[in-house]
Amino acid sequence: MALNTESRIGVVGAGAMGTGIAQVAAAAGHTVVLGDAGGGATMRAQANIARAMDREVQKERLTRDAADRILSRIQFQWEPLGDSLGAYKSCDLVIEAIVEDLTIKQTLFQQLEAVVAKDAVLATNTSSLSVASIASACTASERVVGIHFFNPAPVLPLVEVVPWLGGSAAVPPAAYEMMQRWGKVPVLASDTPGFIVNRIARPYYGESIRLLEEGVASVATIDWAMKELGGFRMGPFELMDFIGNDVNYAVTRSVFEGFFYDPRYKPSLTQRRLVEAGFFGKKARRGYYDYRDGAIAPEPDKDPEVALLVFERVLAMLINEAVDAVHMRVASPADVDLAMTKGVNYPKGLLAWGNEIGLDRILSWMERLQADFGEDRYRPSPLLRRMVRDGRRFFE
Ligand SMILES: NC(=O)c1ccc[n+]([C@@H]2O[C@H](COP(=O)([O-])OP(=O)(O)OC[C@H]3O[C@@H](n4cnc5c(N)ncnc54)[C@H](O)[C@@H]3O)[C@@H](O)[C@H]2O)c1
Repeated sequence: MALNTESRIGVVGAGAMGTGIAQVAAAAGHTVVLGDAGGGATMRAQANIARAMDREVQKERLTRDAADRILSRIQFQWEPLGDSLGAYKSCDLVIEAIVEDLTIKQTLFQQLEAVVAKDAVLATNTSSLSVASIASACTASERVVGIHFFNPAPVLPLVEVVPWLGGSAAVPPAAYEMMQRWGKVPVLASDTPGFIVNRIARPYYGESIRLLEEGVASVATIDWAMKELGGFRMGPFELMDFIGNDVNYAVTRSVFEGFFYDPRYKPSLTQRRLVEAGFFGKKARRGYYDYRDGAIAPEPDKDPEVALLVFERVLAMLINEAVDAVHMRVASPADVDLAMTKGVNYPKGLLAWGNEIGLDRILSWMERLQADFGEDRYRPSPLLRRMVRDGRRFFE
């Protein structure tokens, strides 16, 4: 296994993620093979990358020549990929970005194994399946690793590199270094549900919906509070409408199930009903907000007391979740903070934010919530308790 600047990169799946990943790899100077099982997918991918290149030229971030060279480095497979994946034969690293279905992914990995060289690395971009479950289908499974990009891949710098328990010790560091060379910000995440970002971000949505359900504040007020007091770029409801409530609900369910139904990740009926109603968000023109022509945007109630209540409760849950991810060795404190700032644009790392507010205050907010509601959902992380007891702070 030798991953370097000369490595030939394969990307399987030319949907939203595969297209972005192929663009990133080609921009880093690699020859890229991009294929898809569906007819027309690679044509759309080529058009999308060409448009992205035009934008880079217009914004004077690339010369026309450089943009053309990037596009020419991608070998689009115009014919839908069949059972033989011969086009990937000489790839040193193949990144899978196909439909999120375990059986289909396992079959693809077996087909890839039959064509690539012995020392080629096989990576999955899965968001919600375990790397172990995909790797277990392979014969030479040590070469499998998770390389999880964020959408849009050319824009968001974070990449979660996910080793799995049967993987070679050499593969994750090689993938990590490769991502650094691609100008990405890699972090190491354990093979646990939601990895880092999709786990730690859950309360941003879940606790906000809970506040809405309890009638503490309206959708517009909660969004306003998180932006105004927290400096988040988008409020939780705007963000869910943007991501798609169907997509967000599916991630929440998969994390909840993945953690054997830990109440901290419990999905909400409100979100479920929205999905059942087809109110997927912006793409459906209805979600938490109404995006149809003539709809009147609701005004937030700018009551400072309510705003503070909302902000403190959501932030305490987020920081507690981040601390617990460190406690459960999902990632290092530095990687946890990098992940949330570089993967989902949080204004600050949650652990640094906890330090700033005072871990003792976060603990007291959590204890108050747990006492008020009597729910396991609000249990403070044992690490938070320990750090407060020992007078410790993160990064010291
Ligand atoms: N969309 C996101 O925000 C996001 C972010 C990170 C990771 N992911 C993960 O990336 C993967 C792809 O997601 P996406 O959003 O790009 O999906 P998508 O639906 O946009 O694209 C998937 C593509 O895979 C193709 N495909 C399906 N089966 C195939 C097969 N056997 N061989 C070759 N191609 C096949 C489909 O034709 C389709 O073009 C999933 O595992 C998803 O969980 C998605």
